[in-house]
Amino acid sequence: MLNAGVIGYGYWGPNLVRNFMDCEHTSVKKVSDLDPARLTLCKTRYPSIQTTNDYREIINDSEIDAVVIATPVASHYPLALEALKAGKHVWVEKPFTSTVEQGEILLNEAEKRGLTIIVDHTFIYTGAVQKIKSLLDEKQLGNVYYYDSVRINLGLFQHDVDVLWDLAVHDFAILHYLFGKKPAAISAIGKSHVAGRPENTAFVSLMYDDNFIAHINANWLSPVKVRQILIGCDRKMVVFNDLDQTEKLKIYDSGVVLNTKDNINETLLGYRTGDMLAPKIPTTEALKDEVYHFVHCVETGEAPLTSGAMGLEMVRLLCLASKSIKQRGAPLEIK
Ligand SMILES: NC(=O)c1ccc[n+]([C@@H]2O[C@H](COP(=O)([O-])OP(=O)(O)OC[C@H]3O[C@@H](n4cnc5c(N)ncnc54)[C@H](O)[C@@H]3O)[C@@H](O)[C@H]2O)c1
Repeated sequence: MLNAGVIGYGYWGPNLVRNFMDCEHTSVKKVSDLDPARLTLCKTRYPSIQTTNDYREIINDSEIDAVVIATPVASHYPLALEALKAGKHVWVEKPFTSTVEQGEILLNEAEKRGLTIIVDHTFIYTGAVQKIKSLLDEKQLGNVYYYDSVRINLGLFQHDVDVLWDLAVHDFAILHYLFGKKPAAISAIGKSHVAGRPENTAFVSLMYDDNFIAHINANWLSPVKVRQILIGCDRKMVVFNDLDQTEKLKIYDSGVVLNTKDNINETLLGYRTGDMLAPKIPTTEALKDEVYHFVHCVETGEAPLTSGAMGLEMVRLLCLASKSIKQRGAPLEIK
């Protein structure tokens, strides 16, 4: 049994507590939050969990094996560092840290002590992303041309991070997992339209060494909510609509066909519009699978799919995208 302590019981923390309580291999011993009302809510739902406003009661508890951090991004690093130094495995919410240096320190600390860090890039554990990954691995889609994501809605404006670090980070993680290659360059533009708040609208372009390209539209100031990823390939095209409860994934047998004649000037461009298939995908909550995966990695020492190293790569991209925004979209090389 893996005993967890959860720091942060705001919006996301309750989902973590619920999944760690539901899993037969894990239990939550303590929950910490600075807000007494959140602790009361937790105690009402789970009378067996001890609550505290002092996270050190979790870090210093010798019966706790893993610390789960669901606090605002700036606090991920100091809390994770203290937890690792106390010999705890760590589950950190996305994005991993605020800077690359912080992520590197956490990775070194975990490696030195043989501890596991998982960064909660939840999308990677969804049935839809897992299905797309298997279609790509089985070469059913052909060569990939582009990834085009729209992640827009009205709110929730965050205080501490901009829309890139809040929403575009999901696409960085999905891109990394699905295609397993680093972009060669990144360019981003973004604006804050509300005084004193971070950027609420951002458009990010990622360029790769081959002919694959990616674009992310992330926006907290949209009248409609859209969560749609389009993946264009030469054999098939995928539409992932995360708001569609019954047909999240649609695979289109569509594309272009080139009919070259003897004379190159007579190349004819044809369009293929075949069948559309909406494959059945598992409806298991992603966090449930992620908790099992975390337990497995802690027990075996295997690196999680969304390891600290992967989380650090995402932070590197976020930092470069933020830098590009400051330079009005200048494309920045990725080494
Ligand atoms: N994986 C996902 O899909 C997903 C979704 C939403 C949020 N998140 C991440 O989860 C984290 C939390 O986001 P949220 O939306 O729940 O924020 P939130 O503001 O709703 O909740 C954060 C909670 O942490 C508490 N807190 C802050 N500092 C603390 C400390 N030192 N000790 C104890 N409690 C403390 C606050 O009182 C608050 O209740 C962020 O990193 C966010 O990016 C991830």
